[in-house]
Amino acid sequence: MTQTKGLEGIVAATSKISSIIDGQLTYGGYTIDDLAEHATFEEIVFLLWNDRLPKQEELDQLAKALVDEAHVDDAVLETLKKAPKTANAMAAIRTAVSQLALYDEASEDMSREANYAKAIKLQAQIATLVTAYARIKKGLEPVAPKAGLSYAANFLYMLNGEEPTEVAEKAFNQALVLHADHELNASTFTARVCVATLSDIYSGVTAAMGALKGPLHGGANEAVMKMLVEIGSVEKVEEYVHNKIENKEKIMGFGHRVYKDGDPRAKHLQEMSRQLTAQIGEPQWYEMSIKIDEIMQAEKGLKPNVDFYSASTYHALGLDTELFTPIFAVSRMSGWLAHILEQYSDNRLIRPRADYIGETHRTYVSINER
Ligand code: COA
Repeated sequence: MTQTKGLEGIVAATSKISSIIDGQLTYGGYTIDDLAEHATFEEIVFLLWNDRLPKQEELDQLAKALVDEAHVDDAVLETLKKAPKTANAMAAIRTAVSQLALYDEASEDMSREANYAKAIKLQAQIATLVTAYARIKKGLEPVAPKAGLSYAANFLYMLNGEEPTEVAEKAFNQALVLHADHELNASTFTARVCVATLSDIYSGVTAAMGALKGPLHGGANEAVMKMLVEIGSVEKVEEYVHNKIENKEKIMGFGHRVYKDGDPRAKHLQEMSRQLTAQIGEPQWYEMSIKIDEIMQAEKGLKPNVDFYSASTYHALGLDTELFTPIFAVSRMSGWLAHILEQYSDNRLIRPRADYIGETHRTYVSINER
């Protein structure tokens, strides 16, 4: 049996959804650079779920459904309202995602049609849950989406109660496009393992939310922002980073299991961060990031991943730090759902083996003789 720690280098599925080949990320064969420049998030959702770009009519239908299906049951909103103010945002939203199953009569229907319909609901409702959570925490009522707005614009509208500027909509759309899918990353693999038992789609995305939450995965973007705040100024970067390196501590937002020569998504977020932090008159977040980046590349040979510049980008968009990972989930929901549908279409239970390294040949000893 082959064994590799962290399943490094193991190919555990075949997939048509996205690929990382020679450091290049594609969704269904389209490069991420091409898509980041031209595509709307709705087009990406369709592409990931259907392995082709939509025609205009199909895109209009999907965009409408993502607004029409956004309503969540009051009981789920109550859960968010009742969550302690000290609760972790991802924990609260993961719980609400799980609860959605209780209010969907088709939750156990395993037909392709029912699962596709549930995918649309989940993609619509994750935006409702994240924005409702953010507003509830501030003592505000949730805002329903507006027909005719894009998914990106609607998210910011539901969050802030006012329509975003064109610049904010474009930047947020691009961030959603860049985070939508990423081959067999930890949360997507979790989703596939879960549904490969033929468990339902809600269980699959709830499991994925749990995996995304960790700081080695989606939680890294929040950790990066906390680090930037902790450092406080460009002058203090050098000492901070060198201390971390000397103490053998990790700097969040750097390194990657698959990319060894840089994450192709990072340059887009870097440019967004540069523009947006300048626009809000807070270039220090970008400048600190650049300095950290230079030191990490020079001293450790490590390049930034998707989470590094997304932190200052989201901050410049006025988003609270605790929403960074939930926003990652809003986008990655599309990828999880694509992989879940693909797993169902050609399923086999995912069940690896463990290399047992514990004691052997022990005999039970009764409690008063131990
Ligand atoms: N800061 C400092 N050192 C890092 C590092 C980082 N962010 N990421 C990796 N390294 C170092 C490790 O300490 C290790 O060094 P060693 O061989 O001297 O012990 C080496 O690089 C390999 O790292 P490892 O953690 O084994 O790689 P991995 O493939 O298991 O993990 C990540 C990949 C992404 C989990 C890892 O790079 C990391 O923890 N990054 C920070 C968290 C993050 O940004 N996650 C988001 C990923 S998109």
